[in-house]
Amino acid sequence: LGLAVSIDRMANLFLRLEGTDPTLQPVLAGSHMDSQPSGGRFDGIWGVIAALEAVQAVRDAGVTTRRAVEVVAWTNEEGSRFAPGCMGSMAFGAAQPPDAWNASTDTDGLSFGAELAAHLDAERDLPRRPLGVVEGTAPFAYVEAHIEQGPRLEAEGVDIGVVTGIQGARWFTVEVLGRSDHAGTAPLSLRKDAMQDTVRAITALNALMADPADVTRFTVGRVEVSPNSSNSVAERVRFSIDLRHPDAAVLRAKGDAVAAAVAGAMTTCAATVVERFNADPSVFAPGIIATIEAAAARLGLRSVRMPSGAFHDARFLAPVCPAGMIFVPSRGGISHHPSEYTSPAQLAAGTRVLASVVAELANR
Ligand code: GLV
Ligand code: MN
Ligand code: MN
Repeated sequence: LGLAVSIDRMANLFLRLEGTDPTLQPVLAGSHMDSQPSGGRFDGIWGVIAALEAVQAVRDAGVTTRRAVEVVAWTNEEGSRFAPGCMGSMAFGAAQPPDAWNASTDTDGLSFGAELAAHLDAERDLPRRPLGVVEGTAPFAYVEAHIEQGPRLEAEGVDIGVVTGIQGARWFTVEVLGRSDHAGTAPLSLRKDAMQDTVRAITALNALMADPADVTRFTVGRVEVSPNSSNSVAERVRFSIDLRHPDAAVLRAKGDAVAAAVAGAMTTCAATVVERFNADPSVFAPGIIATIEAAAARLGLRSVRMPSGAFHDARFLAPVCPAGMIFVPSRGGISHHPSEYTSPAQLAAGTRVLASVVAELANR
């Protein structure tokens, strides 16, 4: 492709198209390549492919830019194997130190730190680059193309979502510890049943998170039971909490109340609550929003400004450089599911907007 490849210590991967002035900070565009256990074919990877297409379009059109344009694929945006998500972009933007998640384990007990080291070893032929703003410099700007993952653009018949910001999110891991016992013999009155106290905890959390306006997003998506046997009382249950809200005060209040709600629901077991992720609601740069909007209009596409319910790596670039996002419609609003779909024409439209925005920013 004629692009220079490099990788940083978080295994964030970069492809660089050189500009005419190598001393200027580059424009960065991309997304992530990891997915969900039941993920589709677009969440993340389309933003990387779109950035690659945009760079190739700029080059093939013979357009020269002052700044370099770099395509980036961030490490572990989803956080489904190793919690939390957005590790690569958080480390790049210095939101957390790069070794913050080394002890995070997957369901097989493998640690993120060891798996990252093995991955970097397998890619040792790639040139290493400094890690983001921690070891290097901030980009000039960051633009991420992504599927909407919600129903709005399709319902309104709009081609492009110009993303104004991202709602806040907090993740917790709850561990409920009881004692394993015989399902046929142990009287209920003598049990320390971690599953029963988990049911009480989730019921209490549902009450805490109840929101008649249906703005709060509260999800228990992962439960691990030990020893996980039909005829043994559960000794230990570990479950995840994903909480989101666009209002920082509500997110803070509800999140801060999680530990007490869980503790109050315990009858015979002990519970611990660990916070894994805390991202305030964020807003994107007005200048990038306006540039995306103008590019869409120039290309004859209909656009609408909208917030993002999902989090994205752009959330962690926004504090270090002007950042923004381009959404394209998701059929039926479905995502994190194999039926996730956006048509080739819709993807092409989003990619053309990205190419136009990237070319314009790279000449500033
Ligand atoms: C990203 O996949 C998210 O969970 O918002
Ligand atoms: Mn994504
Ligand atoms: Mn996702």
